Amino acid sequence: MNSDRVKIGIPGLDDMLGGGLIKNSICSIIGTYGTGKTTFSLEFVWEGLKKKENIIYISLEEREGRILTYMEQKGWDVKPYLNKSLFVIKLDPTDFNLANNRIKNELPKLIEEVKATRVVIDPISLFEDLFTTDSERRQEMFRFIEGLRDKNCTIMLTSETHRDNVFSSRHGLIEYLSDTVILLRYVRPSDLSAVHLALEVVKMRMSLHSREIKPYELQQDQVLVYSEANVF
Ligand SMILES: Nc1ncnc2c1ncn2[C@@H]1O[C@H](COP(=O)(O)OP(=O)(O)O)[C@@H](O)[C@H]1O
Ligand SMILES: [Mg+2]
Repeated sequence: MNSDRVKIGIPGLDDMLGGGLIKNSICSIIGTYGTGKTTFSLEFVWEGLKKKENIIYISLEEREGRILTYMEQKGWDVKPYLNKSLFVIKLDPTDFNLANNRIKNELPKLIEEVKATRVVIDPISLFEDLFTTDSERRQEMFRFIEGLRDKNCTIMLTSETHRDNVFSSRHGLIEYLSDTVILLRYVRPSDLSAVHLALEVVKMRMSLHSREIKPYELQQDQVLVYSEANVF
């Protein structure tokens, strides 16, 4: 692992990470629905496209068309990149064999073929859900993630939270397998005036990072992290 940084493209968050993700590392973004996981992953994609990188985006939730529409709504002209430097793949999260084969066997080859330097899987938790036992899931995910480590690309995985614990990923696995873990969550002030969003970097291997909890907003055209403000 080297110390070159790969910017996510969200300024306040990149600052909290000491400049960005470590090149060729694995990052997970964990949060409940609506906290902005997909939005964060698309910022990461757009940042890479602007830097002329090749990108693979695997979606287990949204159809390809919706992802592109969402990016265009942000004012990003992504069409010229499509199937040239941006490869969007929609996987059916109900077909285990197909999803499993495409993610485990085809993705590593595709990364090399298209020379992708950024890869997103959104959300990996729908893939993890497909395994029938905890031990199979643990074993397979470990093998899969380790297999991606020798690739020359930076990987972003998103995950829903655990049903009973908003500080854990759905299956409590990827936070251990990832180098960097970013937690997104809702904060409800005691006066119940409004619901706020807050993020924290809970883990970053081999690097100093901010441990502060910072408010952020999902705006039409950007994610704004208030890195100078405090949540509480
Ligand atoms: N297509 C869209 N157009 C405009 N705003 C959207 C769109 N999709 C999501 N948002 C806004 O961003 C928020 C977070 O969405 P998203 O990034 O999809 O969260 P998650 O992936 O964590 O469920 C939504 O609650 C909504 O406010
Ligand atoms: Mg999403």
